[in-house]
This record gives sequence, C-alpha cells and structure tokens, in this order.
Amino acid sequence: MFDNIQENKTFKNLYNGEWIVSKSGNTIDIYSPNDNSCIGKVQAFEKEEVNKTIENSRQSQKLWADTPINERASILHKTAELLEDNLEELSQLLQMEIAKDKESSASEIRRTADFIRFTADEGKHMEGETIFPDNFPGYKRDRVSIVNRIPIGVVLAISPFNYPINLSASKLAPALIAGNSVILKPPTQGALSALHLAEIFNRAGLPSGVLNTVTGKSSEIGDYIVSHEDINFINFTGSTEVGKHIAKVAGKVPMLMELGGKDAAIVLEDADVGEAAKQIVAGAYSYSGQRCTAVKRVLAVDKIADTLIAEMNCLISKLKVGSPLEGAQITPLINNEAANFVQELIDDAISKGAKLIIGNKRNNNLMYPSLFDYVTTDMRLAWEEPFGPILPVIRVKNTNEAIQISNASQYGLQASVFTSSIKDAFYIANKLEVGTVHINSKTERGPDHFPFLGVKASGMGTQGIRYSIEAMSRPKSVVLNIN
Ligand code: NAP
Ligand code: G3H
Repeated sequence: MFDNIQENKTFKNLYNGEWIVSKSGNTIDIYSPNDNSCIGKVQAFEKEEVNKTIENSRQSQKLWADTPINERASILHKTAELLEDNLEELSQLLQMEIAKDKESSASEIRRTADFIRFTADEGKHMEGETIFPDNFPGYKRDRVSIVNRIPIGVVLAISPFNYPINLSASKLAPALIAGNSVILKPPTQGALSALHLAEIFNRAGLPSGVLNTVTGKSSEIGDYIVSHEDINFINFTGSTEVGKHIAKVAGKVPMLMELGGKDAAIVLEDADVGEAAKQIVAGAYSYSGQRCTAVKRVLAVDKIADTLIAEMNCLISKLKVGSPLEGAQITPLINNEAANFVQELIDDAISKGAKLIIGNKRNNNLMYPSLFDYVTTDMRLAWEEPFGPILPVIRVKNTNEAIQISNASQYGLQASVFTSSIKDAFYIANKLEVGTVHINSKTERGPDHFPFLGVKASGMGTQGIRYSIEAMSRPKSVVLNIN
C-alpha cells in the first residue's frame, strides 16, 4: 500500500495528491535509534517548494470548504479503517523509527483510529446558533444574527517525534473536518511514520491538495513556513524552546501550542502508597519518559517517602530494558544528544547530594531507568524536563510545601495528587497552576475528547477533539434584518 510514497527508501512529499521529490535532489537521512542503521531518507524541501505547497493548499481549501460535512466525515471514517488495516506495518515502523516499545506503538495506531472516528462524528455536530438582539439594552427584536462555524483556511500542523502518527492526526482530523486544508510538517525523526499517515488520508479519498506534506531542515525552512503570510493557523506540539521561537517569528496568526512539562505527582500521608507507586512508575517510565505528560517529579510527604520509594524501586527493577523489537519496555532514547542531556541531569544531581536508588546505567542512547531520592531544589533535575527514564523524589514537609514547589516550575501541564481525602485533593487541585489535575491516577492526555492544555510555559490554547475543532474554525455571523 505504501510503495508509491518512496523509491529505494527515499520518501517523497505529498503534493496535490501526488508524491513528489525535491527539485534540488537534497535529502535527509533517517537513522534508527535502535541500531543507528539508515532506515530511509526524506526530501529536503526548499523555500520555493514551500511556497508552491502553500499556494496549492490555499487553492484546494476552497473546494474542501464547500464539501458537505457528512462527506468529509466519511473520508475520515475510511482513514481510520485503513489505519487499523495497516496496524502491524505502522507499528513496526514506529518501533524502528522512534524506538517506541511494541505495545505503545500498536496502541498509538489504535488510539489514532479511534480519535479520527470520534472527530468525524463530533464534526457533524458543529452547529451554529441564532441570536436575537433585544436582551442588549436599547434593542428590540428587529434583527437576528445567524451564527455559523466556518474554516480558518490553511492550517500548518507541526508535530513532535514522540507521537509522529497520533500527534499529527490529532491536528489533521479536527482541522480537516472543520473544512481547512492542512500542511503537515512532521518531525524529521518520525517523518517516515507521518508520511505513511498522509498516504492513508490520501488513499481514503481526501481531494488533491487538501493535505500536503513538507519535510526539510527546520533551520532552512522552519522560520520561513511559520511566518508565511498564507498560513492561517499554526498547530504546534513540541518543546517550549521551539514553541516560543515560533510564536515570536510567526507574527499575527492564531496558534495552538502544546509544549513541555514537568508534571508533579504529589503523594500525601494518607495515600494508598502501593497504588500510587504503580501509577507513578507507569506514568514516569512508559516510552522511556519521552512523553510531555510523563510524571517528571514526585513530591512525597516525608512520612511515606521511604515506603513509596521502596515500592517504586521494586516495580522499576522489573522493567525490561533493551530493544523495542525484543519486547523491551525501556527502549533507546531518540538520539545520543537526548541521552547526554539526561546524563547531565543525573551527574548534576549526584554531585549535589541526591541519593541514587536504582539506575544510572547507560549503553549509548539506551538509558536504564533511574530513581533518585533526596533531590533538592538547587538541582537541575528538580526543574528541567529530562525526556528520559529518570525520576526525582523531592521530600516535602506538608501539602503547602508540595503546592509551592509544584507551582514554582516554569511549566504548567498536568499534576497528580494521591490521597484518600477528597477534601485535600480538591484543595490542592484548586491551587495547582496546571491545565489538568488527576486525583489518584497518573498524568496523561487521554481520553482524547477531554480538554488538554498547558498553562505557563506548557502551552497556549486547548486541544481535545471538540476544542480542537473549535480552535481551527471561527464563527461567521450573518445578520438578517426582520423589521
Ligand atoms: P521539538 O524539537 O520542539 O520539535 C517539534 C517540531 O518542531 C518538529 O517537527 C521540529 O522539526 C519542528 N521545528 C523545530 N524548529 C522549527 C522551526 N524553527 N520552525 C518550524 N518547525 C520547527 O520537539 P521534539 O523533540 O520533537 O519533542 C519533544 C518535546 O515536545 C518535549 O519538550 C515535549 O514535552 C514536547 N511535547 C509536548 C506535548 C504536549 O502535548 N504538551 C506533546 C509531545 C511533545 P525537526 O524535527 O525537523 O527539527
Ligand atoms: O507527549 C505528549 C503527549 O501529548 C502525551 O500523551 O499522555 O497520551 O502519552 P499521552
């Protein structure tokens, strides 16, 4: 099914329904994080090709906006079906390209198919409203505003390496059902998976040009594409550093941004410590901690800290470390630089007196899961996002200290509170400066129709199926005089 998107493992870009190569002949090699083998090449588009793509997307959007929503929805349903039909192949690709463990790779595909179906159905309820004027002072019932939702135009979707299929589709599907055309700029590492997704949308019957892809060096075309005047919306997921940069260079264009996080799990004295340990370990180490919503610090009340750490240590020691192809749960990080960064945080914490409970073992970019106790607020590990399998425990005296340390972070994505007191849980939840608080469970994005948002340096705007459709459409009011 995917033969047409590549030639000798050189992948092309989707342009106006066709798979094309760059005029320059320049490509970028993609290496597997598992064994550093070259698994393909992607096109290095240049500015002129970006221009052409945007113009094609702009033209194609007009017809798509006029396509009945039920027809758009049928194409999305077909996309979901094709995704599931190709689950095995796509899951193997994720294992090779981003070293995602086998179970998470398969679940990324299944979840994406569910996401697309739900979006198709939700889009059918994108209804407007009528508003009469006479509840506003000085007006009588002499006119009516008929409010409809219409597309915004050309959406630029920029996705990160850690969910190249899911976090591409979670932008594409809501944008498309709302009647926008989309240019997908996938992560370079993850592009092969994302290009397969684009072909699935194409095969499902999306009209030519409604979805185009652009691969290339961010240093060459990144700023150019985000600041292009014919891009009408930017939907970005990635690091806070790149997100802030894009917000600066893009100018006056609406944006959704999902950025980094440093999610805290607060564990109180009256928590079910065994259950908290299970949730935290699952939340911190799945996909080797390369999730924005991974638990990235534990704020444990002193009295239960020893028990919690012992329970977590026991669970961590059972995690299988190695290649995703051999069924490991802790798999190589995306590249060596990522592993070097995690190592820096480890070395800094150890040099400042943190106690290593387990881990600090490394084989190139394969980092064994690490747990640290007695992490203090002068250590980088207390504040920085490692994006690796490493978890600091910061001991706190009481609830208020936990809230204070949690809120002192630049990030504000999510947090968890473990306690048997519903009153304390709500007290803390109300005080935390984050988008979502989970009570007695790990931090995570799903289910995907819940609102998903980060505050402070963690994002801008709200995702979640209905919220994303609303963000990528706008009200249009026609006022009928009925005098
Ligand atoms: P990243 O380095 O920020 O890259 C994200 C995307 O931005 C990639 O497609 C990248 O392309 C592109 N990019 C880089 N510079 C650009 C520029 N100047 N203009 C346009 N695009 C540009 O992030 P990542 O390493 O892929 O992902 C990890 C980070 O994402 C973590 O911080 C994580 O917390 C965050 N994240 C957040 C969420 C959330 O929902 N809050 C979800 C997932 C990940 P190239 O690959 O070609 O550089
Ligand atoms: O990496 C960021 C994702 O939005 C996290 O999603 O909580 O389902 O892993 P997840």
